[in-house]
Amino acid sequence: MIAILGAGSMGRLWAATLPAGQVAFVPRPGQAPDSVCYRFQPIDDKSVSVTVPWLQPGQSPDLLLVTTKAGNTLEALKAALPSIANSTPILLFQNGLGSQQQVAQTWPSRPVLAASTTEGANRPEPGLTVHAGRGDTWVGALNPVGHPLVKRVTQLLADSGLAVHPEQDILAKLWQKLVINAGINAFTAVLDCPNGEILEQPFYQRWINPLCREISHLLAAAGRPEHTPEALRETIEAVARRTAANTSSMRADVLARRTTEIDFINGYLMRLGRQHGIPTPVNQMLTEQVQQLN
Ligand SMILES: NC(=O)c1ccc[n+]([C@@H]2O[C@H](COP(=O)([O-])OP(=O)(O)OC[C@H]3O[C@@H](n4cnc5c(N)ncnc54)[C@H](OP(=O)(O)O)[C@@H]3O)[C@@H](O)[C@H]2O)c1
Repeated sequence: MIAILGAGSMGRLWAATLPAGQVAFVPRPGQAPDSVCYRFQPIDDKSVSVTVPWLQPGQSPDLLLVTTKAGNTLEALKAALPSIANSTPILLFQNGLGSQQQVAQTWPSRPVLAASTTEGANRPEPGLTVHAGRGDTWVGALNPVGHPLVKRVTQLLADSGLAVHPEQDILAKLWQKLVINAGINAFTAVLDCPNGEILEQPFYQRWINPLCREISHLLAAAGRPEHTPEALRETIEAVARRTAANTSSMRADVLARRTTEIDFINGYLMRLGRQHGIPTPVNQMLTEQVQQLN
């Protein structure tokens, strides 16, 4: 069975698509024992009712999916892991970077894997989870003990019917997404506009080139393949145009007064800059502006 820590949009998407009866949510300490019930709206089918039990004491999952926000992940795992076997693979779904490394460093003897997904899910009203966009999910190991389990974990997740692929270099996938999020999300939150509209805004036009120069230096310092600032800007703008009407998760979090994941996107880049002695004033400015919106 598959245990899911974090009964939010992502967690409910996987719980609704994995085979019924083989999934349970991991309770918070002292959580009420009632099952989690919600309606699930697939992309092109009628909505269904889903009931997911909580993991019971003594149950031993084959896999733990972690679908908390990046900022809650360490605390959530500290509470959950004492009752989960050391050999159970942990698959992290968080956006950005920083939280994955924290987990891998905190539990070096547990198999830690990460997923990068372009699936989209949201909860437009209480009790309803919507599969808002079909995508792909890549799964790869973050530590040596996770490596032999990548294929098995990929197979377990593929039982959902969603597209799941093993990935040799999951950090590369996480970095690709980080670069795009770093170049789009904070701007959409500060400017309070959909992705495509940032491109016309003077604030974006003023800062995108210096931001891409910072990211280009950081990629090289982190030992990732080098990208020119121009190539990074092109990639960011292609995604902003392709997703022009979308509201980024960061803007959605600000609008809903939820904590954003800025500390794991531009905030992560700012901290990485400090480690390597690379100035990152634009990442710092964007991080601070989004933190002030919170
Ligand atoms: N949604 C997407 O389409 C999508 C796509 C790609 C990546 N992701 C990434 O997936 C992660 C989850 O996103 P999401 O949209 O599913 O967020 P979400 O809807 O806010 O879900 C997070 C869930 O974690 C729960 N939680 C928080 N602290 C916990 C704890 N200590 N123990 C147990 N549960 C805890 C929250 O419960 P409460 O609400 O009660 O606090 C909430 O139900 C994020 O890193 C996000 O960037 C999401």
